[in-house]
Parts: sequence; structure tokens; C-alpha cells
Amino acid sequence: MRGPSAAKTRQLLRLIHSASPAARCRAATSRPSSSSSSPEEDATGSSMLRHLTSKIKATGPISVAEYMREALTNPVMGYYVKKNMVGTDGDFITSPEISQIFGELLGVWVVSEWMAAGRPKQLQLVELGPGKGSLASDILRVFAQLQPVLSSASVSLHLVEVSPLLSRLQAQTLVGSGSGEVERDDEPVYRHGRTPAGLPVSWYRRLEDVPPGFSIFLGHEFFDALPIHKFQRTERGWREVMVDVDVEKPGHLRFVVAPSPTLASTTLVQRDESREHVEVCAEGGVIIQQLARRVAEHGGAALIADYGHDGTKTDTFRGFKGHRLHDVLASPGCADLTADVDFAYVRRVAGRDVACLGPVTQRSFLKNMGIDARMQVLLRNCNDESTRQQLIGSYEALTDGAKMGDRFLFFGLLHPSRLAVPKTPTGLKLDKKKSPAQLPVAGFTELRFS
Ligand SMILES: C[S@@+](CC[C@H](N)C(=O)[O-])C[C@H]1O[C@@H](n2cnc3c(N)ncnc32)[C@H](O)[C@@H]1O
Repeated sequence: MRGPSAAKTRQLLRLIHSASPAARCRAATSRPSSSSSSPEEDATGSSMLRHLTSKIKATGPISVAEYMREALTNPVMGYYVKKNMVGTDGDFITSPEISQIFGELLGVWVVSEWMAAGRPKQLQLVELGPGKGSLASDILRVFAQLQPVLSSASVSLHLVEVSPLLSRLQAQTLVGSGSGEVERDDEPVYRHGRTPAGLPVSWYRRLEDVPPGFSIFLGHEFFDALPIHKFQRTERGWREVMVDVDVEKPGHLRFVVAPSPTLASTTLVQRDESREHVEVCAEGGVIIQQLARRVAEHGGAALIADYGHDGTKTDTFRGFKGHRLHDVLASPGCADLTADVDFAYVRRVAGRDVACLGPVTQRSFLKNMGIDARMQVLLRNCNDESTRQQLIGSYEALTDGAKMGDRFLFFGLLHPSRLAVPKTPTGLKLDKKKSPAQLPVAGFTELRFS
């Protein structure tokens, strides 16, 4: 990346280096834990199975989207509602849990986008699906280190989280105890508090409850957790894949293909679709449209990072339990269910009012953000051999193509003014001649470190 934007991003990174030259270590890699179920999980699994079975018996096979929604977010028995699943002792590990560097670089990205937008007076950081709150916590540390830069902004943190259990964990991490945290079940803001530095933090169940205003939105491993519909091409046209009870194996579920078109199969599959099997995350599509509208109307940006593809893959629906692959239809409610994000679909539903960048691989994004320079500073200041090894292990986990480096993709939704040519009487116009690769947007273009 060249030009003033690159210089500013480099400067922000240098401030971070001087403010926190030492490493804080988290788990470097995931380790398989037991994939067998605890007695509570067995109970959840069997009540969820009973619930789904009676639902199917009453109304017929359910869509994969409904199955996934129930298994993950049923308010009583859902996986996310009942379990703290992220981390070495859970079912999967995520990049923010692997290393502080990940959140630090995303923090620099947030601040550089805020600066590129002309330093608006208000900065809302909105995270979708914050897990244990580690990413937000690392970003807030960067905000504290960059306080002289951010001093003109009124900064607030907004978390969209469906899980009461995880929201409590996030509050412990971000707000601590005795900080005026309030739990309210019946309000759009169901929890709020202040960080030790005094930043207001609010929790919502849905994005639409977050107040309007200049916002930077982050969704890390959020969209892959949203329900997908699955469709199969047949001789009679597209048919939806459904979940039914398995009559031959009592107590088990199975996939079936709907005999006739469903509303979803007639509306969600593209006319020119060339694949034999497709997955469409309509719920994610609605959220992307909301993000695009907010960014276009109030300014800001959205950064989405997830497992994904560019409209090429077919069957990506899978389950994880104890860091191992798990049958998606076995013990619903006890295992994570996930599907790759289709970024071609994301780009399509985002529409024309925002500029889309990416997807680029996590490896490219982090390298463009200066992960190598950050690593050098942390290693230079680290005298403890085991911490050094952990740092190197986490760096490899995040950037190695065979690990998370190529499997995770970064995608940006930006206000069109970020890519615009001078204003015309009719408003802002995108410069069609500039390809995203030439644009000075941190993370998406190469940043040269001297
Ligand atoms: C796979 S975890 C990722 C956690 C975190 N972002 C990370 O990378 O460590 C998915 C997160 O999204 C939340 N979530 C899942 N479905 C949601 C929904 N429909 N609305 C809001 N949050 C949701 C989960 O509770 C969890 O916090």
C-alpha cells in the first residue's frame, strides 16, 4: 500500500509496538479434547432430538436451516446458548484465541478506517458473535494505546450476541465485576456496562437494535454459524435438502430431498447456477444487507473474516466436537455446526451502495497489516524460550496456508467514498477503473515496512 493511508497505518503500528513490546500468550494450537459426551450433553442431545423428532412428526421434514437454527440457538437447548465452546477445552479454537496479535492488527485496521473516513466524532465498534470477548478485548487495548489519536472520538462498543452464557463471559472479560453491569431480559439492550477505561459496552440480540451512527462492524467466525439452506439439482429441477426422522434407525435423523419445490428452492437458487449442490445462508444475506445499508447511510465499514469460498464449493456443512469432525445429524445441540461463507453471495446481496473488497486470505490480510513487523518486535523483547516458541507457533497457525492462513478469508464492505472519485452533482461515484488491489485500504493491499 502506498500513499498517506499506508503511512498512517505504519505509524499506528509503530505506536502499538512501543506501547506493548511484550507478548501475552494464549494457546498456540488446538489440542483435541475428548469428543465423548458429558451426562449434561447427553441429556441436552436427547431432549433436542426428542424436540426435533416431534416437530418433524407433526409438520413433516424440516429445512437444514431450521435444523441448524434449533441445534445452535434454541433458547433453551441450543449449542451456543448452553455451552462455552471456544478454546482448547471446547470444540474449536479461533484466531483471536490463538494470539493477541490478531486482535491488535484488527484494532489497527479499525482505527485506520476511522481515520480514512475523516475522523468522525463518533466511533461505534460493533462486533457480531464475539465468543469469549477476546477480539474485542485486544482491540480495546489498541484503542487505549492509540488514545492520543482517538481522543477526538466518542468511542463505544456494541456486541451482538445471542447467547446469555457467552455474553456473561464477554462481560467478565471486557467490563469486569462491579462496573455497573445491568442484565435486562426484555429490552433490546439486554446488558450494559463500562470498561475499566470508561468505554460504554452494550449487548444486543439482533443487529437491528444497535443504534445508527458511524460504525465499524466486525464479524469473525460469525456468518459460518448462521443457518444455511441446502439445495440439490435433480432431473426435475432444484430441490431442497431436508432433515427427516430415520424410519430404519429409530432415534436417528437423516437427510432427504424434498419431492417438490419449496419456497426456498424457488427463491434462493440463482437462475444461472452451475453447481450440482448449493448452500445459501439467507439469514446471513439479510444481515449483510443491513450492514451494507448502515455503512452506506451512516459511514464506516464492515470486516468479515470466515471460512469461505467465492461461490465455488458445494457441500461444506460440517460439525465439530472436541476439535474433531462430528456427524452433523448426531446429538444435535451438543456439537458446533458450521458451513463455509459464500463470498460471491455476500458480494451479490451487499448491493451497489457499498464497495466490496476481497475476499483475500487471512495470510495476505495479516501480512498486509504488518504481522511480520509485529512478530519481530514481540520476539525481540521476549527472553523466555517457551513464550518464543508459543509466539512462533501462533504466528504459524494464523498465517500458514495449510493451517488458518489460506482457509480463512477477509472481506470488506466500505462506504463508497473510500473508493470514490471527486463528488459529482448526483453524489459519489465509484471509480470503476481502479481495481480493489490498487486501493489504499489497509489489509487488502500490500503495506511496505521499511
Ligand atoms: C463460532 S463462534 C465465534 C466466536 C468469536 N467471534 C471468535 O472468533 O472466537 C460464533 C459466535 O456467534 C454467536 N452467534 C451465533 N449465532 C448467532 C446469532 N444468530 N445472533 C447473534 N450471535 C450469534 C455465538 O454465540 C458465538 O459468540
